[in-house]
Amino acid sequence: MREQIDNLIQKSKSFTITTKEDLEKFRLKFLVKKGLVNNLFQEFRLLEGEEKKLWGKEINIAKQRVEKFYFDAQNKINGEVYFKKKEQELPGYFSEIGSRHPINFVVEEMSQIFERSGFSIASGPEIEDDWHNFSALNFPENHPARDMQDTFFVGDDIALRTHTSSVQVRLMEKGDLPIRSIMPGRVYRNEAISARSNCFFHQVEGLYINKGVSFLDLKQTLYNFVQEFFGANTRVRFRASYFPFTEPSAEMDIYLGIETESDVRLTKGTGWLEILGCGMVDPNVLENCNINSKEYSGFAFGLGVDRMAMLKYGVKDLRTFFNGDKRFLDQFVNL
Ligand code: PHE
Repeated sequence: MREQIDNLIQKSKSFTITTKEDLEKFRLKFLVKKGLVNNLFQEFRLLEGEEKKLWGKEINIAKQRVEKFYFDAQNKINGEVYFKKKEQELPGYFSEIGSRHPINFVVEEMSQIFERSGFSIASGPEIEDDWHNFSALNFPENHPARDMQDTFFVGDDIALRTHTSSVQVRLMEKGDLPIRSIMPGRVYRNEAISARSNCFFHQVEGLYINKGVSFLDLKQTLYNFVQEFFGANTRVRFRASYFPFTEPSAEMDIYLGIETESDVRLTKGTGWLEILGCGMVDPNVLENCNINSKEYSGFAFGLGVDRMAMLKYGVKDLRTFFNGDKRFLDQFVNL
């Protein structure tokens, strides 16, 4: 009997169960009515007296061991299947996709238009010295023209740049002529904050310096920009203006009309909205940057990005671009 019992245990132990099919084979071999465990019981029935008592206990222990082997394997296999299934059902990890800021998007769109007409992109520091922001650009010291731009001073001669024209000076000083660049960037002015103005905003300024550049080139470049950005039928007009660094100077308006309430508000009832300042670079500025003004001429322009973005997306209050409200920014996720 001993031998048969050990034999049974040995057989069940050496049976490897890794799949559901193995499990079933094991059951058919050991645990069904005609299986090996029951066979042993058949033989046990033939025993008598003391012997029966002795082996009864042993056979029951052996039976339990075989069954335990079976149930352990079953739990393991079912467990694996269960977890595999559960894993597939689990929701994926949610990682939120960020969005580009609408101002950046407009800067990029504007830049692409100018790049297509041959402009490269330049940048410079936001903290500037007096020379690059003012003096080189023909703002005489103590001249009232400096008050056109309320300035945040950082030190005696250092300020947050009030326009990206400072980058134009840096480019001209480098002296790689001709120059055909735009300079997008953030600028700062000490202005009362309201729905229409902020203490910082964004510009895309442009500069073209070469031999024989005329006002006609300036107009053509800007017409081209407006048609691409606002549409082929956009009406524009130039008005004479004043900037210390350009002569002659102009501002350009586009016609929005006065059909909608916001058009009336934005254009103060005229239908016309100013979108940029421009002009022929003043010879003094060229000379300040060591460019021979008899040989070279050029034009410059400066566009406000934030106003463009307001127009483009129908945003009524400039401040909403910058207060970090996710509900506002989420509207631009698919740009
Ligand atoms: N720098 C001017 C401004 O910030 C804009 C401008 C640029 C005007 C170039 C003329 C030529 O207001």
